[in-house]
Amino acid sequence: MAQYEKRVFSGVQPTGNLHLGNYLGAIKRFADLQSSYECIYCIVDMHAVTARWTDPTELRTHVREVAAAYIATGINPKEHVIFVQSQVAEHAELAWVFNCVARMGWLNRMTQFKDKAGKNSENVSVGLFDYPVLMAADILLYRAHYVPVGEVQKQHMELTRDIAQKFNIDWADSIAAHGFGEAYFPIPEALIQGEATRVMSLRDGAKKMSKSDLSDYSRINLTDSVDAIRQKIRKAKTDPEPLPLDHKGFAGRPEAENLVSIFAALTQTSVDDVLKEYGGTQFSAFKAALADAAVEHLAPINAEMRRLLADPAYIDDVLQNGAEKAKVIAAETMRAVRDIVGFRN
Ligand code: TYM
Repeated sequence: MAQYEKRVFSGVQPTGNLHLGNYLGAIKRFADLQSSYECIYCIVDMHAVTARWTDPTELRTHVREVAAAYIATGINPKEHVIFVQSQVAEHAELAWVFNCVARMGWLNRMTQFKDKAGKNSENVSVGLFDYPVLMAADILLYRAHYVPVGEVQKQHMELTRDIAQKFNIDWADSIAAHGFGEAYFPIPEALIQGEATRVMSLRDGAKKMSKSDLSDYSRINLTDSVDAIRQKIRKAKTDPEPLPLDHKGFAGRPEAENLVSIFAALTQTSVDDVLKEYGGTQFSAFKAALADAAVEHLAPINAEMRRLLADPAYIDDVLQNGAEKAKVIAAETMRAVRDIVGFRN
């Protein structure tokens, strides 16, 4: 493996229905980072079971689907690491240590938990509440510097930084005594970039595009056929006005803003440039251009995912190799953490 100075880590849950939001908000940028950094991309199956247990066969299928999406979008598994979280036990082990670092008050402020638990907060799993601590363990186990994620993960990234900071301060003397200098964990930075870091539902511009939305018309799945992509864009909710001439014209028009942002992200331009070209045009014409861009971009990924999924042995091989590489780094971190906090090695 080539030598890189800094490390990138990110993860996607194998909960099925991988969609355009996951792609534009996160996965699309994973491959871009591989020329500059050592990249570790995880399939977080332990996070996937926090909301509900999935049928085990279905969970394994969804794991392969995320792996196929990673490879199909250009991540090179020979040079970088693609692996499954549950194969590296140290994620759970470090999460336990961090459970005793993070404070209840910090977790009580997590808006994603409040959104997901809704009125049912007494009845959701402890794992759902603890989700962000496990996420911090994922990132810090590899002592990653950068984490490409969508906008919705910003608060979890702040929590990760707080946990790293508190660990470094609480254990400062022991960290120094064990020869790790002033701080053991780097403070990781979220990379929230691009024109579509928060892709909204195609049916309701106030809701984010989500794997769990009951309406399949709310999202474009990475496994959708060309016909399905075109139809979903044609049916996407809009308003009767033509496209605005500038950013200010998006006020009160979340659906318009969403479609323009998606187009900008797909065609690698900016929202301003899209408005220069399409401002004042009717949605019917713009939607046709958007459907062409989406198909041009997603059809090759879709075809490659299908090809890969037809060869599960290859995917499993990639994941096995990835787990072996990840375990080496994870074991080294846990050895250090055990020394630092006084557990036995
Ligand atoms: P997941 O699987 O829910 O989402 C995967 C990535 O997709 C982004 N995303 C979106 N981006 C833009 N618009 C949307 N509508 C949209 N929906 C989802 C998410 O922000 C995410 O980047 N908590 C993570 C999984 C995780 C993780 C980690 C990530 C677990 N451990 C460590 C980074 C580092 C999540 O949201 O997965």
